[in-house]
Amino acid sequence: MSIRPYKPAPATPAPGKLPLTELAEMKVRSQPIVMVTAYDAPGGRLADRAGADLVLVGDSAAMTVLGHESTVPATMDEMLMLTRAVTRGAERPLVIADMPFGSFQVSDEEATRNAIRFVKEAGADAVKLEGAGPMLDRVKSIVAAGIPVMGHIGLTPQSATMLGGFRAQGRSAEKALALLSDARALEAAGCFSLVLEAVPAPVARHISAQLAIPTIGIGAGVDCDGQVLVWHDLLGLYEGRTARFVKRYAEIGETIREALETYAADVRERRFPEEKHTYAMPEDELAVFERAVSASSRPRE
Ligand code: KIV
Repeated sequence: MSIRPYKPAPATPAPGKLPLTELAEMKVRSQPIVMVTAYDAPGGRLADRAGADLVLVGDSAAMTVLGHESTVPATMDEMLMLTRAVTRGAERPLVIADMPFGSFQVSDEEATRNAIRFVKEAGADAVKLEGAGPMLDRVKSIVAAGIPVMGHIGLTPQSATMLGGFRAQGRSAEKALALLSDARALEAAGCFSLVLEAVPAPVARHISAQLAIPTIGIGAGVDCDGQVLVWHDLLGLYEGRTARFVKRYAEIGETIREALETYAADVRERRFPEEKHTYAMPEDELAVFERAVSASSRPRE
């Protein structure tokens, strides 16, 4: 496995990196954008090898990797560590760090300082933050610092309680229009792209058609400019309840469980390790060692 050594981050893109401007061009060409979450270096590398365009280090890590019940407990330190790992593995895709709850809500200054940490200390190419309204100024401030921002509206898990739980958003004409207005405002604030989560497909289609920046859907239908799925959902690694919009492309959790059971049985039956898994030593050295052991061994009482 080849993992690149950590290089602190480019405000200038690294060679081989997908240019940010290419995303808008993909939208113009109607070429779907592929985004997937990842939380470690092998994940970043595999997403890169599979041809993903964008890798999101989602705060979904709080649930998928850290075992919390929601995304809210994710901290800056945890997200920085995970982002560093992903940027070591992903070369071509743009790596987007998800700003955790509490890292951008308080003020423009704090939001910008934390966004800078993701770029400078963890090698992120861009950041994502949830919400519109008061968050528009955060977006402007971070973009003014030279950091690309991805917006996120619809079901925004960090504020799920305010939204009445993990449920689809924009299902009335009034709420759908509010989403469209938020989308336009985020584009005007400088977002380079926008996640639409759990939004009726026709609403997402209209929003996507109205914006020049690409939309990335999750539970928002096929007419978004790109799609994102969470690593653990896509690969069948997450054991909790998954949303309606999840498609499992593999059952890696099952494969891991079976492998671990076989390993445990092999250890218990002394079938592992085999000869080929062990190290030999020269015969004469072994003989000397064994003579020394028996000369120094005390008889057992
Ligand atoms: O945290 C995350 O993984 C996300 C995606 C679901 C878009 O925000």
